[in-house]
Amino acid sequence: MKDFEINPSILSADFGHLADEIQKVEKDTTFLHIDVMDGHYVPNITFGVPVVKAIRSETNLIFDVHLMITDPMAFVEAFAEAGADMITFHVETVDDPEKVISKIRSLGKRAGMAIHPDTPIEKILPYVEKCDLILIMSVRPGFGGQHFMEEALERIAAVRKVVDEKDLKTIISVDGGICNETIDRVVKAGANLLVAGSAVFSNDDHSKAIKELISCVS
Ligand code: DX5
Ligand code: ZN
Repeated sequence: MKDFEINPSILSADFGHLADEIQKVEKDTTFLHIDVMDGHYVPNITFGVPVVKAIRSETNLIFDVHLMITDPMAFVEAFAEAGADMITFHVETVDDPEKVISKIRSLGKRAGMAIHPDTPIEKILPYVEKCDLILIMSVRPGFGGQHFMEEALERIAAVRKVVDEKDLKTIISVDGGICNETIDRVVKAGANLLVAGSAVFSNDDHSKAIKELISCVS
């Protein structure tokens, strides 16, 4: 992985032309962030397994599937089969995170754990070395286009500390409110995979938007 990468979130893409939207970001990224919402863990519904399967044949980007659903264990297999490369579930939704991590890994996929802004960061720290990715939410999950919560910065730094102290390869991802004004602080706090929805897809020229985000990191 490079020092840091932009991970476009298709939540803000034009769902009527998903394949075209993905094509427009393909040259500027290696990842694609896919938000799955069940209307239960979060107050919104997006898409599920059939959509992941449908776009799988359209691109070779690494599919980073962010499950915002109450029962991730029940669906990891289906998302793995549909073509997810990384599957991230919320620490708040499971009793035994290690069981879910093992399940995802047994399917040959990379395992990620996400944390809601209201959950103390200590809850996730013991799992940093057990996961391939930690996803720190910097907005309340459920919707794109929200403002970045500054409190996320010290939470990112806390995870970065564990990664550095233990010399781990765990990816530190941040999701919500990443834009030209916030990205530099987020990278400096220690994140290396920046999910960006509206900042990329609200700009007609998605490729230019990604380049702009990258150029805002000093
Ligand atoms: C929100 C989703 C995010 C969303 C971020 O719950 O998890 O991935 O797409 O959108 P922006 O970048 O617009 O804040
Ligand atoms: Zn997300």
